Amino acid sequence: MGMKIAIDGPAGSGKSTVAKLLAKRLGFEYVDTGAMYRAIAWKAFRSGYSPNDRPGISKIIESTTFSLKNNQLFMDGSPIGDEIRTSEISMLSSAIAKIPEVRAFLTEEQRKLAANRDVVMEGRDIGTVVLPDAEYKFFIKASAEERAKRRLSQLKEIGIDAEYETILKEIVARDINDSSRDIAPLKPADDAIVIDTTDMPLEEVINYILKRMGIE
Ligand code: DC
Repeated sequence: MGMKIAIDGPAGSGKSTVAKLLAKRLGFEYVDTGAMYRAIAWKAFRSGYSPNDRPGISKIIESTTFSLKNNQLFMDGSPIGDEIRTSEISMLSSAIAKIPEVRAFLTEEQRKLAANRDVVMEGRDIGTVVLPDAEYKFFIKASAEERAKRRLSQLKEIGIDAEYETILKEIVARDINDSSRDIAPLKPADDAIVIDTTDMPLEEVINYILKRMGIE
């Protein structure tokens, strides 16, 4: 069976860092579901399909496989890398995430990846849709300004140059996109523990989560 921990939240909330660290501490597998939306967007982009090209997107889905090994996600047998982290792919992935067929496909793939494993799975709809029976659900949030700052330094780390104002605008646009879509919008599950990390150092967030799980 395995134990499931769901970490949800908006872009740049710090949920990836939190989820990765938590998985490491617990010795669980880490799954970044946003990377799967991004990888589909990247593949569509490479094939010249826009998010509005539904037959094109269907073709992509039919020919895509995901797998997971040692915390690394693979698409079609190749490791998914930083090529999916550009601003262009961020916006495309948010558009692609509105397509019901894409969500149905990825939800199923994510459940398969979580099956029979101890996992920390992060995304937007893990606690609400993908793993509604997860033992622990956390919803990580922070102000848009703080999230833009964090995103900027993350991008710098992987060698992508960006401007604060541009990133802030993108974050606000993606918040609206991700929260207002009809299927699986971004929102905390009723039984999720909501953590506002605007003024909270990472270590404090992790300690709080472990405490809520009864581990210290
Ligand atoms: O977490 P991220 O920024 O890498 O996610 C990229 C996009 O994928 C995000 O704008 C919304 C979408 N997404 C989603 O709809 N559901 C998820 N579980 C994860 C991501």
